[in-house]
Amino acid sequence: MKTDQLILGIETSCDETAAAVIKNGTEIVSNVVASQIESHKRFGGVVPEIASRHHVEQITLVLEEALRQAGVGYEGLDAIAVTEGPGLVGALLIGVNAAKAVAFAHGIPIVGIHHIAGHIYANRLIQEIQYPALSLVVSGGHTELVLLDEPGSFKVIGETRDDAAGEAYDKVARTLGLPYPGGPHIDRLAQMGSPTLKLPRAWLEGSYDFSFSGLKSAVINTLHNAEQRGEKIEPEDLAASFQASVIEVLVMKAVKAAKEYDVKQVLLAGGVAANKGLREALTEAFSQLPIELSIPPLYLCTDNAAMIGAAGSVMFEKGKRSGMDLNGNPGLDIEAF
Ligand code: KG4
Ligand code: ZN
Repeated sequence: MKTDQLILGIETSCDETAAAVIKNGTEIVSNVVASQIESHKRFGGVVPEIASRHHVEQITLVLEEALRQAGVGYEGLDAIAVTEGPGLVGALLIGVNAAKAVAFAHGIPIVGIHHIAGHIYANRLIQEIQYPALSLVVSGGHTELVLLDEPGSFKVIGETRDDAAGEAYDKVARTLGLPYPGGPHIDRLAQMGSPTLKLPRAWLEGSYDFSFSGLKSAVINTLHNAEQRGEKIEPEDLAASFQASVIEVLVMKAVKAAKEYDVKQVLLAGGVAANKGLREALTEAFSQLPIELSIPPLYLCTDNAAMIGAAGSVMFEKGKRSGMDLNGNPGLDIEAF
């Protein structure tokens, strides 16, 4: 008798083609990621046309490999969870159409998943979530604080008014002449420098919103002014100063919101969750509080399909099903998906 729930997760929202099989919502049976970063590097960012083309080339191979590693056939799956949005529409469509084709051919239900819900539920692959939980989401496209009162319920209590944290990292990195994606490079430089430069922090008092565009401009101005005066700024110190400013605001707001909403757990999520400085600062801040902090391992911070399968399991249990009219939705709302 079959008792385990097996969900196939599919993720193609940006520059990784990924598929994974997740058992009972918490266990990774297989997790395959084909990254396109090398193809986009020379353009300094993700080129949507190229992303779509790579997804088309990779999707069948990645799906077959995920099933092969899991030792399961399509007939053994309970559901297919696929990233429905947000993301690049041409990229999303490849995953959505692959999911629909498999679902139709094998009579398997589909569950459309919000990409950020996936990042949040990556945490369930390391430990059970305790509700109410608060997620600090820091990715290339999003920076927000999301409250989860119960499984599969998402309420955005604060979000960025301009750039996402990852976007700011990538833009500052580009100004320093570092390759795409710049976040890991800034993180590495920051460890070697000191936060000696005075840079702004956008507190936006009375709100849980964020803003990083002023900080990004301040970094660019600091560099240009120094250049004009013929002075040299050490990139390590600039990276450390920028990173200190980003982290201070993220940590302070996460702590304040976690206390105000009296949550049991704080879940770090998104690509910038890989940041060493942020992981350390959050660990330090929450070690003083009776609130558990969950930080996913690095391979679950950047885009993958295991997280989509994990979120898929939660939404499947809640009864969510998508129809054959499922479409890629670049503007999908996490509170309403
Ligand atoms: O979650 P993700 O794949 O993007 C979206 O879903 O939007 O995150 C990608 C972002 C990029 O901006 C990248 O520079 C950043 O995560 N990132 C980092 C680090 N590793 C990746 N940012 C800072 N420090 C890192 N170690
Ligand atoms: Zn992502």
